Amino acid sequence: MEILPDLLQQYLETHCEPEPDLLKSINRETYVKVLKPHMLSGHYQGRLLSFLSKLMQPKCILEIGTYTGYATLCLAEGLAEGGEIHTIEVNREMEEMIRKNFAASRYGKSIFPHFGDAQQIMLQLSDKIYDIAFVDADKKNNLTYFERVIGQVKTGGLIIVDNVLWKGKVYNSDANDADTRLIREFNDVVSADARVEKLVLPVRDGIMLIRKK
Ligand SMILES: C[S@@+](CC[C@H](N)C(=O)[O-])C[C@H]1O[C@@H](n2cnc3c(N)ncnc32)[C@H](O)[C@@H]1O
Repeated sequence: MEILPDLLQQYLETHCEPEPDLLKSINRETYVKVLKPHMLSGHYQGRLLSFLSKLMQPKCILEIGTYTGYATLCLAEGLAEGGEIHTIEVNREMEEMIRKNFAASRYGKSIFPHFGDAQQIMLQLSDKIYDIAFVDADKKNNLTYFERVIGQVKTGGLIIVDNVLWKGKVYNSDANDADTRLIREFNDVVSADARVEKLVLPVRDGIMLIRKK
């Protein structure tokens, strides 16, 4: 079940900023060449990430889950002068495409791709302070990523977590598989966490915005 019906999705896409040409071609290439292309953020969610980043003007961003680099490039659009974005991908088969996509972008020099398991790479990046962290990798580890990253997010900083509605399964009491239970648990724990303000947006598969107090 898609959260947004196709017609609404189309309407939203024609009433926001157009998808930049490079992102359009990455979107197309991902759908032609890569497995599970629906994982890519896409036009509307990508514009949301770009919009949030431009509001925040971040000096440093962390992304967990690069895939083909689409969301990385959206987030990079808002970087402050001299800012940097670190993005982590475990699948080495993506490396060539990721590097090619970043090299084609004017933000390429601000982007630092890391290849390996996110928990390991996060240790190597433990001296960084983030304005934005985008958590979009293996969903079962969302809580681990949240707990690890929150200490490195500055006050007023933003943690963005994708797929928190899990195709509607989190609020459908019939769904009780292991993945759904873990995502429910994540949503419940963060909702009760007094260190942060939170808001779930019903965009695509559900995006949680978490602001550190
Ligand atoms: C949903 S996709 C990311 C989509 C991308 N953020 C975007 O919006 O275009 C998730 C990615 O996380 C990667 N991933 C899964 N587990 C990971 C882990 N433990 N460490 C780092 N990356 C991981 C997957 O290989 C996949 O490419």
